[in-house]
Amino acid sequence: MTDPALPVPAAPPPAASAAPPPVGDVADRAAAGFRHRYGAPAAGRWAAPGRVNLIGEHTDYNDGFVLPFALPLRTVVAAAPQDGDRWTVWSELSDAVVEFGADEVAAPGRVDGWAAYVAGVVWALREAGHAVPGARLAIASDVPLGSGLSSSAALEAAVLAALVDLGGLDLPAEARPRVAQRAENAYVGAPTGIMDQSAVIRCRAGHALFLDCRTEAVEHIPFDLAAAGLAMLVIDSRAPHRHADGEYASRRTACEKAAGLLGVPALRDVAAVDLDDALARLDDDEIRRRVRHVVTEDQRVLDTVALLRAGRVGDIGPLLTASHASMRDDFEITVPEVDTAVEAALAAGAYGARMTGGGFGGCVLALVDADRADTVADAVAAEYAERGFRAPGFHLATPAPGAHRL
Ligand code: GLA
Repeated sequence: MTDPALPVPAAPPPAASAAPPPVGDVADRAAAGFRHRYGAPAAGRWAAPGRVNLIGEHTDYNDGFVLPFALPLRTVVAAAPQDGDRWTVWSELSDAVVEFGADEVAAPGRVDGWAAYVAGVVWALREAGHAVPGARLAIASDVPLGSGLSSSAALEAAVLAALVDLGGLDLPAEARPRVAQRAENAYVGAPTGIMDQSAVIRCRAGHALFLDCRTEAVEHIPFDLAAAGLAMLVIDSRAPHRHADGEYASRRTACEKAAGLLGVPALRDVAAVDLDDALARLDDDEIRRRVRHVVTEDQRVLDTVALLRAGRVGDIGPLLTASHASMRDDFEITVPEVDTAVEAALAAGAYGARMTGGGFGGCVLALVDADRADTVADAVAAEYAERGFRAPGFHLATPAPGAHRL
């Protein structure tokens, strides 16, 4: 049940409901899709992973700290140049082809659906002054959609890597997350922070990415669970995303308002030792709780990094669980399915557990003894059945590399 080679089947988008699930290696599927669709082999293939965030939730757009790592689940783009300002994109998910040209990437919002992420990357690159080559692309993916594992950032990063290489563009890896984020924020219209794009582009195998979201400085922190006899169980809560976009935006607005009331550029500038003073200066209880989450969460990231640097990976469990409580009680972004998964995992012996990602569904991480992963998974599945929830999905997560050419 927890074999990492057996990804949870993606919740299919509506257009794909009649299509059979993809089989075979994702890189082979992208290459075969390209050949079949365009009648010639691709010039290359580029992969970008999904991600989970070990800790540091809703801190990125507050200029704070995050600690994600990349997953072995990947999106792969097979691509080749084509003449003129034309982009032709096929995706296995809908088995559809979308074509667009200079008009559609002259301004945001002119392409919608999944292809908006591709058009958004072309638009953002052109906005940044790059001569983007026309291209044919074929997309295959093992990153489940709508599970909070950053399928959209994976798509953006793989397309970006392909276009940069095909066009010989001068865009170093550390500058790519901002371009991909701009595609998502301005073209697609989702007001996300910089974490997901940074994770799927800059992560390294075997490491978590300690990212300062203000300076974009990174440190690759060794994260070797197996050496400690541990495993990270990823539980797909399968909760429907209820109003997630509006709730995300409202949390972001509340944080910006709080920073303004406190007279700081961002909530990152409230140190944990000054939290009580800051809270005493705020009248609104909801705003106080939002601030408390962000400030304590930044500190939990720093504490987690300190433990990992000291080789104490087995001791981070309580920080994960405290992060979950803070998201549940102060930031109010959890839902019954994820709370149930966390509680059941802890009751079955997990050292720590928390929701990962933006909230209102998505996945839960549980730090477990490697030889107890199945037991914990079974306990979560049993509790889900008891409560009448849709059956959860399971993966084992090992830190994988960020976007790269295959
Ligand atoms: C989503 C966003 C990220 C980040 C997380 C919450 O994944 O895309 O930028 O804000 O939520 O930590």
